[in-house]
Amino acid sequence: MRALMISNDSLLHAEVAAQGSARLPAVQLVATRHGLRDAVERQLPEAPDLVIFDASDVEPAEGELVERLSRNYPAASFMLLTRAPQHDLLIRAMRAGMREVLQLPLVHRAFHEAMDRIEVAAGVSRMRAGRVLAFISCKGGSGATFLATNFGYALAALADKKVLLIDLHGQFGDATLYVSDQKPAMTLSDICGQIGRMDGAFLDSCLVHVASNFGVLAAADDPQHLVEMKPEHMDTILRVARQHYDYIVLDVGRQIDAISLRALDQADSIFPVLQLALPDIRDGRRLLDIFRSLGYPGERMRLIVNRYEKGGKLRLVDLEQALGAEVMHTVPNDYVAATDSVNQGIPVLQLSRSSAVARSLADMVELVTARRVAESRGLFDRLFGRNSSEHHID
Ligand SMILES: Nc1ncnc2c1ncn2[C@@H]1O[C@H](COP(=O)(O)OP(=O)(O)O)[C@@H](O)[C@H]1O
Ligand SMILES: [Mg+2]
Repeated sequence: MRALMISNDSLLHAEVAAQGSARLPAVQLVATRHGLRDAVERQLPEAPDLVIFDASDVEPAEGELVERLSRNYPAASFMLLTRAPQHDLLIRAMRAGMREVLQLPLVHRAFHEAMDRIEVAAGVSRMRAGRVLAFISCKGGSGATFLATNFGYALAALADKKVLLIDLHGQFGDATLYVSDQKPAMTLSDICGQIGRMDGAFLDSCLVHVASNFGVLAAADDPQHLVEMKPEHMDTILRVARQHYDYIVLDVGRQIDAISLRALDQADSIFPVLQLALPDIRDGRRLLDIFRSLGYPGERMRLIVNRYEKGGKLRLVDLEQALGAEVMHTVPNDYVAATDSVNQGIPVLQLSRSSAVARSLADMVELVTARRVAESRGLFDRLFGRNSSEHHID
């Protein structure tokens, strides 16, 4: 967004410029005026998208200039910054359509939250209502991390969704390595240590960006427990993530702790990943029993059978019976494609697009996104009192 800044406080100007340039899309300060009168008298030839107006030094007699300023740029959004409460001015500003008022000194989080609202109102971006999908390994090595990371990438690449993957392994998380060779600069524990800074821009700056619309938040890396991670931190992270991403994929790992449990509580779907073998089925049963005892509804659980080979001794129906849950999807055994991808740290869809496992991931993307369309159509039909003939993929 192109912004006009009205202020004679050069420190504040620098601060807003720095915060603005860190945003995506960036807020660019294209012009500066030193006060309200200066701004009104020297109108910009090309109207800005945004006017950031520091009202600290406005004299009571200049109040009427506020309306002139807003008439000068009728299509712009306004952000008002005030040091002391200036009631008369505030009311004038509100009447002139200036809705965002921030107190100085500037609280960065408040600035970014206001910018988020301005962008939504201006149609630059939209608040998303992201869904949380948790992948959990019934037995170590079932393939939960491989599927979570590669499914996340596939959602971003094939369905054009904005996707965030969070590695919730308490220790030894490796999700980043499955799809990237970049070293994470920030991890989940770092974010918890600075939770007061949490907003969309901060979260984005902590990710390893695998694609423009797919980022990974690396697992906590804090063996000495310098940061106290709290379940409430997870609430904050997921609340902000839901606003800024279409899907939040969790790689939960096998150890369920207070943090990952809080994330699971909020998951829209849980995908237990297992292979069609007795030890996996035993551990899968235990896991599902835990989820049931936590009161998670059965339809939230969607089993994924990984490395599936048809014609084995155990059948899918046996598994479904033993676990009392339906299999949502099977992923074929594809040793070469999976191993190449994991070893090179390149998503399998990118490395071996036509492999069996890549095609299966594409099917899963369709299944998950189609379900969402069906759900919103269901809502549409309910609103308009029609009987839905939609076949739900449940
Ligand atoms: N569909 C598949 N076909 C072949 N190999 C697979 C498949 N899925 C996963 N693997 C392999 O299994 C290994 C373990 O997977 P991983 O995701 O690390 O398991 P988990 O996270 O459940 O412990 C990976 O190195 C990967 O190469
Ligand atoms: Mg794993």
